Amino acid sequence: MNQAIGLEGMLRALAERHGRQPSGQDQAFGLASPPPPRKRCRAIAVAGGKGGVGKTTVSVNLGMALSMAGHEVILLDADMGLANIDVLLGLTPTRHIGHLLDGTCAIEDLLLPAPHGLKVVPAGSGTRRLAQLSNNEHAAVIRAFDDLVTPPDYLLVDTAAGVSDNVAMFAAAADDVVLVVCDEPASLTDAYAMLKVLSRDFGVRRFRMVANMVRNLGEAKQLHQKLARVSDRFLDVALEFMGMVPNDERLRQAIKRQSAVVDLWPSSRSGQAFKQLAGAVDTWGEPERLGLDRIAFFSRQAAVATGW
Ligand SMILES: Nc1ncnc2c1ncn2[C@@H]1O[C@H](COP(=O)(O)OP(=O)(O)OP(=O)(O)O)[C@@H](O)[C@H]1O
Ligand SMILES: [Mg+2]
Repeated sequence: MNQAIGLEGMLRALAERHGRQPSGQDQAFGLASPPPPRKRCRAIAVAGGKGGVGKTTVSVNLGMALSMAGHEVILLDADMGLANIDVLLGLTPTRHIGHLLDGTCAIEDLLLPAPHGLKVVPAGSGTRRLAQLSNNEHAAVIRAFDDLVTPPDYLLVDTAAGVSDNVAMFAAAADDVVLVVCDEPASLTDAYAMLKVLSRDFGVRRFRMVANMVRNLGEAKQLHQKLARVSDRFLDVALEFMGMVPNDERLRQAIKRQSAVVDLWPSSRSGQAFKQLAGAVDTWGEPERLGLDRIAFFSRQAAVATGW
């Protein structure tokens, strides 16, 4: 992993954000005409707190729906050590994030082709070391995406259950955080805990909520109101309603066949819902672009703590 390129990318992003003009010193070093800006990749983290609420299902189907709509999409399985996107899509990876961290492969070598042009970066399963990555290693994985020669339009990140640093690092580094919530008390309390940790400790202020396994739009909106009422009152966050995915037997059947429902049965209720979610992503305005700054901050903290 070339850390210098990652840091360079971070600095470039900061310079772009602040509209930096080349200085006299830059000109003296021949940096007056910078290369054309790289294509902007939007990183979307899918989180939820509670296990089994549908984070992976939403990541896979939303990713594929965005691909089907003509976007270039990379789906990163960030459920380190318990990865299952490859299983869900019937893929057989030979390398995973662990090899990237060991320096035995580059990020491009990890891209596994899935239907409709979607590309998956697998995380590896049954590897304890991957489940216990340090903050620096998390930052290295995130920075590795700066090294991509051709960045995608979207980088979707499927996170693990819980609110550990593992999840928080990926969510904090993303441009957008999608919270998957279902109508169960534990899902609501865990989603609230996630909002609290990410806003208090990482400065994430805007979230989007997908209501999963609901009966209809009315139920989905009620679920959103339940959570937004509490988060509006006690936290400094904006929780927008993004959409819903119905409880759908077709989706369960697709999982058994190791396929995405948007691919197998695009006109099923859940298939259509994922297409609508992809349409919603297309309407989002410019991201705040703070993810990389947060990671820079996080890396500094980790460097101080470990003497790295
Ligand atoms: N909309 C839905 N309709 C029907 N079943 C669903 C739906 N969403 C999820 N499920 C069911 O819930 C199961 C768990 O979903 P999924 O693996 O996506 O959850 P997760 O949040 O990623 O879990 P984990 O925290 O373990 O990673 C699926 O295998 C599927 O059976
Ligand atoms: Mg999952």
